[in-house]
Formats: sequence, structure tokens, C-alpha cells
Amino acid sequence: GAPVEVDLGKMEPGQLIRVAWRGKPVWVLNRTPEVISTLSTLDSKLADPMSNESSQPEYSKNALRSIKPEIFVAVGLCTHLGCSPTFRPEIAPSDLGPDWKGGFFCPCHGSWFDLAGRVYRGVPAPTNLEVPPYRYVKDTLIIVG
Ligand code: FES
Repeated sequence: GAPVEVDLGKMEPGQLIRVAWRGKPVWVLNRTPEVISTLSTLDSKLADPMSNESSQPEYSKNALRSIKPEIFVAVGLCTHLGCSPTFRPEIAPSDLGPDWKGGFFCPCHGSWFDLAGRVYRGVPAPTNLEVPPYRYVKDTLIIVG
């Protein structure tokens, strides 16, 4: 599959863009400062907070799983059996419960991922969402693939 360009120039804070790459959904999320600060509080609830057992390029193997803190890129397929999780950016109160801090919810078997694609402990998905290879061409343009 060909690499895919994603223009970040018109993204609103909190916005998620969906593109297709190699037949897979790829998500590009513009994280707000509030989201970024919430992510740093979740480690104790996560199965693999530092992504040691998960799949990502070396340059995105860090706490926020990204090159730049605000822009998160992930393959939008659950690491359990491949359903596409839904984008649920709201924090509690949420119908997902008082512990929900915003993230991606997989409706197939109830896996929770945070807004860095990190999987919570005790859900069926074994690892964090995959981060695909990507790079910045300029501040407002990335190429996935
Ligand atoms: Fe997502 Fe099973 S496929 S929880």
C-alpha cells in the first residue's frame, strides 16, 4: 500500500481524522493539553504503560506514544480480535463508568484503551493499539507508511 498524507493544518483541538492505509483504518488525533496531562496519571491502570510488549516504531515508544505530544497516530483495530474501537473522548461522567478517562472503547468484548492507545488491565485486548510508521514532512503534514 502507498503511504498516505494527512494534513494537520485544519485540525481542531480534540479532533480525530480517519484515513485508510494498507486496507486498515488509521487514526490521527489532535490531543488537547488536558488529554496529555490526564494520560500521565493512568499508568497504574494500564497493562503495558511503557509499551514494552506493544507494537510501534522506536521513535514513538515513549509515554505518549507519538513523535509530537499532541498528535497521536494509531491503527484503529483492536489488538484482541480486530474490531474497530469507537472514539470516546469524554471523561466521567460517561456511560462507560466513573473510571473512564477518555479513550477508545471496543464494543466487541469491552476493551478499553486510553488516548495514547494504551490498553487497560483486565480487558481482553493483550497489547496497546499498534502505531504505524509515520513522519513529519513539515509541521502540518505527516505521511503514514
Ligand atoms: Fe476488541 Fe475483542 S475485538 S475486545
